[in-house]
Amino acid sequence: MVRSYNDAVKQESRAKLKGFVKKNLLSHMSPRDVRVVCFPGAEVDGEEALEVKEVYDSLGIPRENVMGIEYDAKNHERLKNAGLGIRFTDRPMDAYDFFKTTSEKFDVISLDYTGQRTWKERDIARYIAGKGLLGNGGIYCTNHSANREGVKMKKGLLSVMREKEALESMKDMMPLAEDNFLETVVGEGSRILDKYDEMSSSIKEKTFDLNLLRDQIARDNVEIFRGGVLEVSPHENIFARSQIFSEIVECYRKDLGKELSKRKFGVLGEDYGVYKMAFRDFLSMAESEFVRSGVVKKDVALKALHFLNLDFNKGYAVRNIERYSYTSNKNTNMLLDIMEVKRLPDMLAQNVNKIISLSPDGQGMKYNPCFLSPKAFRGVVSRVKRVPSSWIDVNIPAPIYLGSSWVPPKRKKKISKEKAVELMRDGISPRALAEEYSGFTKGQLAAFKAHITMGTY
Ligand SMILES: C[S@@+](CC[C@H](N)C(=O)[O-])C[C@H]1O[C@@H](n2cnc3c(N)ncnc32)[C@H](O)[C@@H]1O
Repeated sequence: MVRSYNDAVKQESRAKLKGFVKKNLLSHMSPRDVRVVCFPGAEVDGEEALEVKEVYDSLGIPRENVMGIEYDAKNHERLKNAGLGIRFTDRPMDAYDFFKTTSEKFDVISLDYTGQRTWKERDIARYIAGKGLLGNGGIYCTNHSANREGVKMKKGLLSVMREKEALESMKDMMPLAEDNFLETVVGEGSRILDKYDEMSSSIKEKTFDLNLLRDQIARDNVEIFRGGVLEVSPHENIFARSQIFSEIVECYRKDLGKELSKRKFGVLGEDYGVYKMAFRDFLSMAESEFVRSGVVKKDVALKALHFLNLDFNKGYAVRNIERYSYTSNKNTNMLLDIMEVKRLPDMLAQNVNKIISLSPDGQGMKYNPCFLSPKAFRGVVSRVKRVPSSWIDVNIPAPIYLGSSWVPPKRKKKISKEKAVELMRDGISPRALAEEYSGFTKGQLAAFKAHITMGTY
């Protein structure tokens, strides 16, 4: 039996998306200008594109602004014939190929996946963030099923968790320019590595709470959107033009080449790993320059660093995350993550670049207040300070459970062979019997029927 998406809990999930778009996007944009791309869905005739009808129509977003993607040929055909007035790709297309090849910009990207997160769904997010396909203030929404993730994905999500913990503890240590600073950092680093090695074994032994990992899907998306061009075209980040950056990249390639080629980094292959590591080094150079200068306090230094990262990589800050979970009518646990992504205001980017920038010889970072009068410098610092900390410390809430639409099928009555043969002699087909009773498969019943027909029963 085909189950459609016309059920109470799915409707509730669409209502959450609608509420989010209304609150966060339509507060500053007219519905007429909003451009949407989504999976409209069309499992049953007459129930096509429920997301378009329940979310975008009711918000006043014109149908012609909506792009529908569908990879299943039958659904694609059904959608095209339904006279919806939305746009489609000419032929059935996987979202992966769509986002890889398009340069069109959208304000809402809603990817209502039927399956779990794999490297493909992750790379789709990377294309969107890396190619800047979401407009400023745009909304990114995903539904994933929360089951049976592959081992590689689980490990990937575990490393997102590890990076977060490492970053948090570095944050606490950064201003401590003590004698044993390096030892403390290295010690803390190996403590975290050991802890996560142990956790990784517990994944293999299946004693790990996988919901902890699934919470990292939202964090992974936050990091991907922050990464900006680093995600798909790292050579476009501003530092890639400097000599020192190329040197770091080459060092990593030489030292880690073999190890890196063994790993897979998704769309970019090993370049992804190399550039991410080189960029991290670059940021720690900026960080030490801040600490060395001693002029700005820790909170300003960290904020400025974060904004530098966003600016150099044309990344997005993620805000206002809402997360929900529900049980679908197919009895699958689903996770709904909705988030708003913002570009760094130009004014802020320019200001941050005044505090610290690439040195004129391209050799490193230079803390740079000498270009500003003390008064102007204080002005820049106070502007950086005023940006709400939610731009940096993204709150990733636990999902709110919306309920279940799963109705277990009625238990069928068991039938004896004698009774089945009797009913088939009365003209009831094997298929009708199999639907009504348990005990025999359709094939077994068909075999009995053949005996009846041949007179061997
Ligand atoms: C869950 S349904 C969409 C339901 C719809 N959003 C609603 O609210 O009723 C997902 C649809 O997208 C299609 N789909 C799933 N993953 C896709 C992908 N990677 N590329 C293109 N289509 C995809 C599926 O075939 C299915 O028709």
